[in-house]
Amino acid sequence: MIAPASKKTACLATTAALGLVCSIVAFLLYFEPPSPVCPSTLANVNNYEDVVPNEKPIVLLWFWPLGVKFDLKGCLTYFNIDSCVLTDNRTLYSQAKGVIFFHRNIAGDLQNMPQEPRPAFQKWIWYHVESPTNTAKTPGLENLFNLTLSYRRDADITARNELTIRKTDMKEDFVLPKKDKLVCWIVSNKNPSTGTATRERYYKELSKHIKVDLFGTAYTGHRLSYEEYYSTIASCKFYLSFENSLHRDYITEKVNGPLVAGTVPVVLGPPRENYEEFLPADAFIHINDFPDAKSLAKFLLGMTDAAYMRYFEWRKFYEATPHLLSIYNEFIQPICLACDHMSRDVYYNVDHDLYKWYST
Ligand SMILES: *[C@@H]1O[C@H](CO)[C@@H](O)[C@H](O)[C@H]1NC(C)=O
Ligand SMILES: *[C@@H]1O[C@H](CO)[C@@H](O)[C@H](O)[C@H]1NC(C)=O
Repeated sequence: MIAPASKKTACLATTAALGLVCSIVAFLLYFEPPSPVCPSTLANVNNYEDVVPNEKPIVLLWFWPLGVKFDLKGCLTYFNIDSCVLTDNRTLYSQAKGVIFFHRNIAGDLQNMPQEPRPAFQKWIWYHVESPTNTAKTPGLENLFNLTLSYRRDADITARNELTIRKTDMKEDFVLPKKDKLVCWIVSNKNPSTGTATRERYYKELSKHIKVDLFGTAYTGHRLSYEEYYSTIASCKFYLSFENSLHRDYITEKVNGPLVAGTVPVVLGPPRENYEEFLPADAFIHINDFPDAKSLAKFLLGMTDAAYMRYFEWRKFYEATPHLLSIYNEFIQPICLACDHMSRDVYYNVDHDLYKWYST
């Protein structure tokens, strides 16, 4: 049972909890996790004793995602979420209302999953943010979970970058950042096994007709630092928001980056209709708007300043929130949303046929 006040907090928290999405994917695929691993300010459960029984549920993070540790207090700091007792302490397993499992950490033989029986009140949360192309179908997980945590809109818990609706009278005077490049692309992965062939082909064709400034390890061998990320994107008129693989709702921080920076994203991913479920139609250019790369190049080269500025009209009404640019931080938001969800969750729920759902 939840008091109205905490419900309101939870609601506000959810609204405040923008920030990431599948940025993690980017970091998994495009940035090597920095090492050595963060001097962890590990979650401590000292506050566990202070909690009034039954008020805040315990949510157990079974694995640190990819072994990366971070401060679980980040939920409060970054997203104003404080509605569960988040812990990595497995001795609390039998009391945990929710247990979060990061998909990539699950061993093929499931030996690193809990071996004790699952309490009847407990929910297992499948936490995964990579596209189906980049998802290992570990056998035995199909009918094991109660909740899904992913970028998908129809996941039980959805974690992604979303535009927020501006409060009325908040019309900003948008100042276009200084542009000294036409088209840019930050790309650190061109491994075809991750699904990148489509975007590679498109880029190669496009670059025959228009200059594309490249950043990131895939072509330059130089890894762009987090500090350089937004300023680099801001310095370009257009940014290639090319997803590594094409799937429904798989629209990542590659689009959020330019929207935040004040640059027009040129997207390659699911169909335009899918983008328009998340973004105003005039906030981006879709490669499918053109018969081929040559026509797109011609369109970009010939665009007038007035036409260009129309791609920023949406900013009067909506707001893009920067994603947190470090691998430690990127993992936090989905976990915080799961924490918040568990403070409100009262239903019985089983997710059947996990992979079938995920691949449709
Ligand atoms: C984990 O929780 C148990 C039970 O509350 C406690 O005794 C133990 O000290 C905790 N371990 C850590 C590392 O905090
Ligand atoms: C969670 O899912 C498991 C496996 O499908 C199921 O046995 C269990 O009853 C479910 N529990 C809840 C609380 O939904």
